[in-house]
Amino acid sequence: MLLLCTFLTLCLSAVHSQFPRVCTTDEAISDKSCCPAGKDGSPCGSNSGRGICRNWVTHVIIPTLIASGFAASVPQYDDDRLDWPRHYYNKTCECFGNYGGFNCGDCRNGFHGEKCDRNKTVVRREIRELSLTERKKVFRYLKIAKTTKSKDFVVLTTRDRHHRDTYRFVDATIYNVFAWIHYYATQAIMTPSSFDQSHTYAHRGPAFPGWHRLGLVFLERQIQLLTGDEDFALPYYDWRGEKNCSICTNDFMGKNNGQGTLDPFSEFASWRSICSGINYVEAYCPVVEHEYEMERLRRRPGTDNTVNRLPSFQDVVDTLRWSVFDRSPYNSRATRSFRNVLEGFIRPSNGMTPATTMHNQVHVYLGGTMGQVPISANDPMFVLHHCYIDKIFELWITKYNGNPDTYPENDEPGQGPEECCTPYFPCFWNKDLLRKSTDLGYKYSTYQGS
Ligand SMILES: *[C@@H]1O[C@H](CO)[C@@H](O)[C@H](O)[C@H]1NC(C)=O
Ligand SMILES: *[C@@H]1O[C@H](CO)[C@@H](O)[C@H](O)[C@H]1NC(C)=O
Ligand SMILES: *[C@@H]1O[C@H](CO)[C@@H](O)[C@H](O)[C@H]1NC(C)=O
Repeated sequence: MLLLCTFLTLCLSAVHSQFPRVCTTDEAISDKSCCPAGKDGSPCGSNSGRGICRNWVTHVIIPTLIASGFAASVPQYDDDRLDWPRHYYNKTCECFGNYGGFNCGDCRNGFHGEKCDRNKTVVRREIRELSLTERKKVFRYLKIAKTTKSKDFVVLTTRDRHHRDTYRFVDATIYNVFAWIHYYATQAIMTPSSFDQSHTYAHRGPAFPGWHRLGLVFLERQIQLLTGDEDFALPYYDWRGEKNCSICTNDFMGKNNGQGTLDPFSEFASWRSICSGINYVEAYCPVVEHEYEMERLRRRPGTDNTVNRLPSFQDVVDTLRWSVFDRSPYNSRATRSFRNVLEGFIRPSNGMTPATTMHNQVHVYLGGTMGQVPISANDPMFVLHHCYIDKIFELWITKYNGNPDTYPENDEPGQGPEECCTPYFPCFWNKDLLRKSTDLGYKYSTYQGS
């Protein structure tokens, strides 16, 4: 509790959102410039050849989208995240070679060393494969991430989103920056008169697997930097065939009571969800400023009437039978689409029937915080679940030789192949996340036969 108050006090010292802190000064915002100095003092480390400060090339809407009527609908949106990060910045760093980070001061994922010339691959393992000591270490690291203020990033908060002058950038802890990124990408898209809830930047479209992949890589890297443990890898939860949530015990992720409250003696009992409590579409995480509105984590596995089990071994086998990454209309109605089966809007066995399956099924099955899309990333269970979803994505990439050319043009805002994944810095094109995980510095263990 004391710890929580401490970081909330820090939260209140608003600096003038995952926004690199140094790019949120009044000056950077008014210049629309995010080209911070690298280690050598020059913007984007340009003097040492690490990168350059580049004028933003805005996303070009392609002719097929104009023909489909999408382009005509774009100007109706008045959303700060559209064509990321154009609303905030028209100049950002472009890093060369293996350099990475918003100021090219870090290495891109999967590389390390002073010249970023040494590659590495960490191995993500099933949480039940870890020894007790290893598991305790993971829990300890997650807690450090939950309580340590991020020095590099701040988050965006406001009440009425129509009033841009009230947008504020505030401090957050590293885990909370991660939870906020998911929240921010998920909030409804703003039009001048209303909010469009049928599209999001992270779901219901081809960006879904890559968007979550990048979020996990972000958290993993931040924990490596924070703890100095370069070998740290996130764990996953292979839920295939479980009758109930076998890791919902105090030895693992914590058990809960009938109301969904986590057992006081469990690891994450004291965690609170940022951006929870008030879930207005017209606001961006206003609750960061009001501790009393932040909810504790809640979980109610197996109590939702619509979903009575976790996905089966056969469901995963069936999901991997769909060889086409995604299909028109590239949203939650797409049929015979690997992405839409994995995301869980249709039945894996026939790829046609609308149903709550796979990814969605696990969220609904676990319920509570995990059952509410915008705030679900507050529960570390989200990390374990999404690592397993990402493992299935990786199995698909290996089986069908998935690569950036496999990523389709589509009509979903922010999900174009050469649009930046929203709201990450530096820019990652959506299509570039469709490649082998070793390119991003990690791989998965084999567990239960695959
Ligand atoms: C970037 O935005 C700033 C502030 O609005 C403006 O002065 C500048 O001309 C813009 N630069 C480009 C290349 O569009
Ligand atoms: C580093 O990259 C080389 C060449 O791609 C590869 O053969 C090697 O296995 C990689 N090493 C690690 C630790 O990933
Ligand atoms: C799962 O179900 C079994 C059998 O009903 C029960 O013994 C076990 O306690 C349950 N586990 C959890 C975590 O609910």
